[in-house]
Amino acid sequence: MDRRVIIFDHPLIQHKLSILRDKQTGTKGFRELVSEIAMLMMYEATRNLPLEDIDVETPIATAHCKCISGKRLAFVPVLRAGLGMVEGALTMVPAAKIGHIGLYRNEQTLEPVEYYCKLPHDIGNRDVFVLDPMLATGGSAIAAIDLIKKRKPRSIKFLCIICAPEGLEALKKAHPDVDIFCAGMDSHLNENGYIVPGLGDAGDRIFGTK
Ligand code: PRP
Ligand code: URA
Repeated sequence: MDRRVIIFDHPLIQHKLSILRDKQTGTKGFRELVSEIAMLMMYEATRNLPLEDIDVETPIATAHCKCISGKRLAFVPVLRAGLGMVEGALTMVPAAKIGHIGLYRNEQTLEPVEYYCKLPHDIGNRDVFVLDPMLATGGSAIAAIDLIKKRKPRSIKFLCIICAPEGLEALKKAHPDVDIFCAGMDSHLNENGYIVPGLGDAGDRIFGTK
């Protein structure tokens, strides 16, 4: 596995992912788990943020400390399912700006169809974290990142909970400069473009629409 792709092996993430996959897990539990996994993933995905030196006056003396340099992050969930990851990501970085990209897959062609795009006005000065629980064919992730790149952000990272090998390869090929973080990689896609074994339709499970 190359260094740009991180598949998490942390026990907390793996444990939560197992419960998330279970078809007996209901909407409330599913939502909470997506949020918790996103929080843990964001903790790791921000590991290399640049730091700068600051001096802080404690009640006793001056402490030579570090703070995150620039602090200019943006989270961009891909609607709908990516919305489920926002709260957890914000737990780690409460001041991040949020953009939204609306895409759905045409059920026959599996091609992404864009219906919404609203990004922070200053996204060109920001490090962007794209959030979407599922990377299946890769079409939605590639299209979302195409849209974001038009605004020339400082960097882009993609965070998903489950990926299929097909989608991972497609995304790496289309956007070789984007770091990819996944909680788990599955076996393959079925004939309907669903990840096997996966967790079903993430949007429907988060919003209780099926
Ligand atoms: C899901 C998922 C991704 C996309 C992944 O969204 O949240 O955006 O499928 O599939 P791909 O890699 O083959 O493009 P969906 O189209 O079901 O829309 P929804 O989130 O609104 O339910
Ligand atoms: N989108 C989902 O929500 N689940 C899949 O398995 C594939 C695409």
